[in-house]
Amino acid sequence: MTFIDRVTAFFASIFASILAFFSALFVRRSRAPPIDLEAKIIDISPDPTPQPTPHGSPRLLSAAEVFDSVGPAYEDAFQGLPTQAAAIDWLVDELDKTHPRGGARIVDVGCGTGRPACSVLADAGHDVLGIDISEAMLRAARERVPNARFELMDVRAFLEREKNNAGTYDAVTIFFSLIAGVTQADIREIHAGLARLLKPGGFMVFSTVPLPVENESIKWMGRPLVVSSLSPEDAVASVSAAGLDIIYQGVTQFLPRASEAGICKPDEVWEEPHLFVYARKA
Ligand SMILES: C[S@@+](CC[C@H](N)C(=O)[O-])C[C@H]1O[C@@H](n2cnc3c(N)ncnc32)[C@H](O)[C@@H]1O
Repeated sequence: MTFIDRVTAFFASIFASILAFFSALFVRRSRAPPIDLEAKIIDISPDPTPQPTPHGSPRLLSAAEVFDSVGPAYEDAFQGLPTQAAAIDWLVDELDKTHPRGGARIVDVGCGTGRPACSVLADAGHDVLGIDISEAMLRAARERVPNARFELMDVRAFLEREKNNAGTYDAVTIFFSLIAGVTQADIREIHAGLARLLKPGGFMVFSTVPLPVENESIKWMGRPLVVSSLSPEDAVASVSAAGLDIIYQGVTQFLPRASEAGICKPDEVWEEPHLFVYARKA
């Protein structure tokens, strides 16, 4: 083999490995919606010794404190997130087939300002309950989405309250709300508990920042807090272990416009990997 042949073979094998890596990240099943964004996993930098920030004391903040301090500006920072819009549109289309006259019973976990998820689903005629632990978020949600209901509640308390209501919800949405103040075991239990609430044929749409971290102290948008999450494979496995069929999974990345929204300084925001999973109860 000539030197040129060897160099060509070397670059061909690197290209094949890259192709295999990205194909593995984009495993799609039937009925996958037309999302075709590039997949890439990035790392977040753990910060085990939080420093004083312009937003307050150096102590670790609870999830409610973090989201109370971010407040409705969160919506500006993530406005128009294409993968979230696609996920909500997909759910609206699916519910249109099962509930053509509306009226599907839906809970949105960690609803934030109620936009976009509660707003779009309620406008489609469905019975939407948004739950959240942040009073500031819920104040905005009640004002911005008057055709949905909202309750100040941790998802774990919601599951305890609803434990006798298995099989009574048509859909559950969880957009980026199982990260702060939960453990990996909590995430798995919450998936299982929410899946139990679904009727046969009911839907779960789950998104998260899919990194394999357990009780990691980090700064998110300048705020020190403790987070846990799962790798993309483990997050999908958790939804599947809850007894749901995976319809779609995809990883993309997004740079929140957090400094433009006045949430933090430009050097306190980084590009986030996002996992979206669409699933259905058989
Ligand atoms: C990153 S924001 C996402 C908001 C909204 N889902 C969206 O996509 O625009 C996460 C939201 O989940 C809420 N949250 C975090 N942990 C929660 C929990 N254990 N139970 C209920 N809500 C929670 C936060 O207060 C916050 O409003």
